[in-house]
Amino acid sequence: MLQGRGAALAAPVIGAAAAAAMGLSLAGAILAQEALDVDDPWYPLPEGEGVMEVYYACNACHSLRTVTNVRYSRRVWDELLDWMVEEQGMPEFRDEEERQMVLDYLATHLSPDAEGEPTRASPGLPAPRASW
Ligand code: HEC
Repeated sequence: MLQGRGAALAAPVIGAAAAAAMGLSLAGAILAQEALDVDDPWYPLPEGEGVMEVYYACNACHSLRTVTNVRYSRRVWDELLDWMVEEQGMPEFRDEEERQMVLDYLATHLSPDAEGEPTRASPGLPAPRASW
């Protein structure tokens, strides 16, 4: 009997703790997104030179959040661009200049020390591989 009552009492307490934890991570997600303007035509990409090239090159197969979710060094972005072309079927860049523009944008605005937080806010997901 006592065990049953204990369990019944414990449930709302655990519920409240879970709700508090969710509230915290939700607050984190909202804060992270406040820095970005949803009315911005390039949302969720931060403003910057090359944003248009990145927008069109990177949104064909996955959300742009797949891109803004991570923070990588220039070297990793450089490798990732080759990987997108060689393994994921991304069309080749028109020329070296366009590739360079995309790489400069990514290495500047989505580098490990860029301003703002990655859009990924779910605590269960792996951390961005920033140190590669
Ligand atoms: C032709 C389709 C295609 C295009 C275009 C494309 N991607 Fe991807 N991308 C993929 C696929 C498929 C995956 C998932 C690969 C996997 O996880 O096995 C992926 C995954 C990713 C990831 C997550 C994986 C990681 O290592 O962090 C990032 C970041 C990424 N792409 C960035 C980009 C960027 C930047 C561009 C534009 C320059 C781009 N993608 C364009 C197909 C594409």
